[in-house]
Amino acid sequence: MLILNKTAGVFFKPSRRKIYEFLGSFHFHPGKLFLHKLVLGIETSCDDTAAAVVDEAGNVLGEAIHSQTEVHLKTGGIIPPVAQQLHRENIQRIVQEALSASEVSPSELSAIATTIKPGLALSLGVGLSFSLQLVDQFKKPFIPIHHMEAHALTIRLTNKVEFPFLVLLISGGHCLLALVRGVSDFLLLGKSLDIAPGDMLDKVARRLSLIKHPECSTMSGGKAIEHLAKQGNRLHFDFQPPMQRAKNCDFSFSGLQHIIDKMIMQKEKEEGIEQGQILSSAADIAAAVQHTVACHIAKRTHRAILFCKQRGLLRPSNAVLVVSGGVASNLYIRKALEIVTNATQCTLLCPPARLCTDNGIMIAWNGVERLRAGLGILHNTEGIRYEPKCPLGVDISKEVGEAAIKVPRLKMKI
Ligand code: KG4
Ligand code: ZN
Repeated sequence: MLILNKTAGVFFKPSRRKIYEFLGSFHFHPGKLFLHKLVLGIETSCDDTAAAVVDEAGNVLGEAIHSQTEVHLKTGGIIPPVAQQLHRENIQRIVQEALSASEVSPSELSAIATTIKPGLALSLGVGLSFSLQLVDQFKKPFIPIHHMEAHALTIRLTNKVEFPFLVLLISGGHCLLALVRGVSDFLLLGKSLDIAPGDMLDKVARRLSLIKHPECSTMSGGKAIEHLAKQGNRLHFDFQPPMQRAKNCDFSFSGLQHIIDKMIMQKEKEEGIEQGQILSSAADIAAAVQHTVACHIAKRTHRAILFCKQRGLLRPSNAVLVVSGGVASNLYIRKALEIVTNATQCTLLCPPARLCTDNGIMIAWNGVERLRAGLGILHNTEGIRYEPKCPLGVDISKEVGEAAIKVPRLKMKI
């Protein structure tokens, strides 16, 4: 048996005593009988070390998560070697906690599912090598997981949602619209051509120094913008939604971010303050930024719904739009999307907040979905590699753009 040396971050062959210590740290229940298959999910693609045990019926038996957000907030962004080190320091404890909470011993697992793509190379590597050791040690099947597919299918754990459905993933690292036709059958309709909306909101919040704001000091950038926006008047600033002429479902946020940066610089001059101090108009800027981002996301999503309906890819009525990712917890953006789904006779669904952001449950659940469908279950892990870059499904975004669907104007009265 090999175990992870927490400080060195490497696996080593321990003494027999250490093996008993490690195995003894799990709560074994040898007499217990599980009716369902059990999957351990492990997630380390970005800045969360997470693990969970989920059964075939979708019951979450145990979970644990270690978030690195606080550390990365201090450095103003994720530094990959720092993220890697933190994953190394926490993965064994997190997996152990998830297993202990579930009262499942590793030998009772049906499979181990782990995110292997896409994500930060250094982060993915920690989860993969730890998982492969477990797989080898307990002789379990391995299920490699695509992080975005896992986000997209999470809704089927909490709601009865049949294929096909549309999914919008918006977070700090993701921004895409896809049609989900099956467990591993995705059509990519559009994605961000530059940065993700959460990344942009984080950058604007940093530029506005919201971390120094007494009400926002512990919030992520996006959450701080949502919080301050409630106190501001969006009409004091007029930012145009990006890509208004491009009749596709792609997104762009960095141009808008630069326009906002310039505006902030100008306001600092007008107010006679230094960069790093909080503008008196910060709340108005936050409100205008949030509104513009919401309108941009809503418009692209509206076009995706119309495209899918036009091509018979979605039911004409009662089609489902799932919104997930950290930015999906923004209630203003959700309201904008609700206006779109009401106008197109769709149902808007959103997983609970803790399942919208990165977690181990979604990985374990994706493992369950794959186990049930008999897709991608490996009994030999030789040659398995992580893939930092990996598209989601079949990219039909060009076809979507060629259809050039004109989206009717909706009144965004939020
Ligand atoms: O899904 P997530 O936890 O991590 C990844 O990016 O994968 O999402 C984090 C992102 C951050 O950019 C954060 O600023 C944003 O989601 N976010 C929000 C809100 N809460 C978190 N953005 C807008 N409104 C919020 N309430
Ligand atoms: Zn994610």
